[in-house]
Amino acid sequence: MKHDDAEKRGAGLNLPSVSVPKISFRIVLKGFIFLFVLIMSAVVSYAAEIDCLACHEALTKEKFVHPAALMGCLLCHSAIDAREIPHKINNTSAKGLSSEQPELCFGCHDASKFTGKTTHEAVRMGCTGCHNPHSSKNAKLLLSEQSELCYTCHDKNTFAGRFMHVPVVIGMCTACHAAHQSANDRLLIKEPPDLCYTCHDATDFRRKNVHAPVAAGLCLSCHDPHASRYEILLRKEPADVCLDCHAEIRKQSHVVSGGHPLGIGKEDQKLDDPVRTGKRFYCGSCHSPHSSDSVKLFRYPVNTTFDLCLKCHNK
Ligand code: HEC
Ligand code: HEC
Ligand code: HEC
Ligand code: HEC
Ligand code: HEC
Ligand code: HEC
Ligand code: HEC
Ligand code: HEC
Ligand code: HEC
Ligand code: HEC
Ligand code: HEC
Repeated sequence: MKHDDAEKRGAGLNLPSVSVPKISFRIVLKGFIFLFVLIMSAVVSYAAEIDCLACHEALTKEKFVHPAALMGCLLCHSAIDAREIPHKINNTSAKGLSSEQPELCFGCHDASKFTGKTTHEAVRMGCTGCHNPHSSKNAKLLLSEQSELCYTCHDKNTFAGRFMHVPVVIGMCTACHAAHQSANDRLLIKEPPDLCYTCHDATDFRRKNVHAPVAAGLCLSCHDPHASRYEILLRKEPADVCLDCHAEIRKQSHVVSGGHPLGIGKEDQKLDDPVRTGKRFYCGSCHSPHSSDSVKLFRYPVNTTFDLCLKCHNK
């Protein structure tokens, strides 16, 4: 195809000229070949002199091997002179490393993938806080199994409680958090409520009448994402969670004149929910905390308040 043919076709579509990327691609390719030959010849000539693995064989013996470790030890340990033992180190970096971390790793790994609006402090501290640079028995060269990795720096007790969220129990921290960086706060892979909807069916939260804090995505105003001493990962005693925002309910009669039990106070807290066996009686026995097809967020599809009474008081 002729050059100006291509230009004509592109004109209407406002595409960039096809010839430009071709030239720059060639330049880049040539540059790569040149660099590759240069590096490999340097590495090969030194390696021919000293076989590092003759003495350090164990480093690359684990199941998952870092391709870099096979490309040549001196790619990272450029300042090691191994002709003597102990080795001579020709720079100020520990272990004769070419540069400090994480820059060392950014020599081959695109730095922009590891820094974002929120960057994990652990990444700044050095990639080898989580990865073995040579080989590992764990996938992704991780220092320990993923379920234990985060606890090497984060206190396990902070994520434990009488009631624990299932993904936390099984150590799936990375189901919610990015290990390196994120565009969201707290390294979250998504913001709530979308984060929660990756595992929880959203329909329970989108019925006709949606509770204001749910509509605002404030799942965390009532739930702790990790663990809690209160059931259902609630941040407080169930009724207290509601009274935080509905303090007025405490002061006035609710449901019946003189007041209906509400699950507040020591005696009330012992009442069982007459409909839902095994659950205690509280605000959530009559109201759904999330959304409902009935008025006043009633938990049951009732047309009148009286129908609601009949749910628990048969006669
Ligand atoms: C991708 C970069 C990289 C490559 C390639 C690499 N190393 Fe390392 N090496 C490191 C880093 C980083 C450390 C420091 C680890 C730490 O501080 O936890 C290290 C540490 C070491 C140590 C100290 C003992 C230890 O386990 O911490 C030895 C020995 C070593 N490397 C030998 C080698 C040999 C031999 C090769 C080639 C087979 C090699 N390295 C290839 C990055 C590399
Ligand atoms: C003849 C055996 C032998 C060979 C070959 C050898 N090493 Fe070592 N290496 C050792 C011993 C022994 C030590 C531990 C003593 C020390 O700290 O120097 C060591 C330590 C190291 C350390 C850790 C140094 C530190 O400051 O903690 C690094 C990194 C390392 N070697 C890299 C290399 C590299 C890269 C090569 C190849 C260019 C190599 N070694 C070849 C025996 C060897
Ligand atoms: C000399 C180039 C080079 C350097 C320097 C380098 N890497 Fe790599 N690394 C690679 C290549 C090539 C791969 C395989 C392709 C890929 O996954 O990007 C890889 C893959 C990885 C993987 C994924 C392994 C897997 O099983 O999916 C991890 C983790 C990793 N590197 C960590 C590091 C860390 C940590 C450092 C710094 C201590 C580092 N790399 C420095 C070249 C390098
Ligand atoms: C807090 C621990 C931690 C630190 C620090 C860390 N990583 Fe990772 N890295 C992980 C985990 C966990 C995975 C696996 C992610 C997954 O499977 O979702 C991973 C995966 C990777 C991968 C495989 C590609 C991918 O995204 O799955 C590469 C490459 C990598 N890390 C390189 C690095 C480099 C380079 C650094 C330093 C700049 C670094 N990591 C720092 C924990 C860490
Ligand atoms: C090498 C140590 C280290 C490891 C391993 C580590 N972290 Fe961290 N992490 C830190 C430090 C340091 C901070 C900042 C201080 C703090 O908040 O405790 C931090 C902060 C965080 C934060 C809060 C970020 C923010 O912006 O508020 C989250 C979330 C987090 N880490 C998750 C994880 C997860 C998930 C893992 C396992 C994949 C993990 N960390 C493994 C050291 C580590
Ligand atoms: C179900 C999703 C989810 C899982 C699984 C999860 N987290 Fe979180 N994590 C969050 C959310 C959401 C926040 C933000 C809490 C807030 O802002 O109140 C958070 C906050 C954090 C923080 C910041 C400090 C704090 O407590 O607010 C750290 C550190 C952290 N998580 C580490 C971890 C570790 C380690 C694991 C694995 C044991 C883990 N997370 C598992 C969702 C999760
Ligand atoms: C990685 C999947 C996953 C994500 C993401 C997730 N959850 Fe869960 N969650 C579960 C599983 C599994 C259970 C237990 C089974 C069930 O009850 O459905 C559970 C249970 C719960 C429970 C009931 C706990 C109990 O003791 O009965 C609450 C409350 C909860 N999640 C809230 C949240 C919130 C809030 C978010 C978002 C911040 C969230 N979840 C994100 C998987 C997840
Ligand atoms: C106003 C407080 C509040 C808000 C906001 C809230 N929840 Fe709940 N959630 C509760 C209460 C109370 C229960 C217990 C209901 C009961 O008595 O069975 C619960 C129960 C749950 C359960 C257990 C299964 C079920 O439906 O009973 C899950 C999962 C859950 N919530 C997830 C979420 C998610 C995801 C969000 C955000 C979209 C959210 N919650 C927002 C208070 C709240
Ligand atoms: C984070 C604050 C907050 C919490 C916690 C909270 N609510 Fe609400 N709730 C609101 C807001 C805001 C409205 C809408 C304004 C209003 O009517 O007061 C509302 C409205 C309601 C309504 C009236 C709905 C209607 O259609 O008229 C009921 C019923 C209700 N909440 C029950 C509960 C129950 C039960 C709990 C505990 C599980 C609870 N709320 C916890 C903020 C909250
Ligand atoms: C026995 C069932 C029942 C219990 C338990 C209950 N409510 Fe209600 N709630 C109702 C009924 C019925 C209405 C509608 C009253 C009306 O229309 O006058 C209502 C209305 C409301 C409203 C809306 C008020 C308005 O003026 O529209 C809020 C907010 C509310 N309840 C919160 C709570 C909180 C918080 C608790 C727990 C402390 C609670 N309810 C416990 C049955 C109950
Ligand atoms: C979710 C179940 C539930 C619903 C719905 C419900 N109640 Fe109750 N009600 C109870 C429980 C539990 C008690 C306390 C235990 C008992 O006395 O049986 C109670 C007690 C009462 C009492 C006795 C009050 C006292 O102080 O001893 C009256 C009156 C009453 N309810 C009226 C109503 C009316 C009217 C409605 C409808 C507006 C209603 N209830 C809806 C569960 C419910």
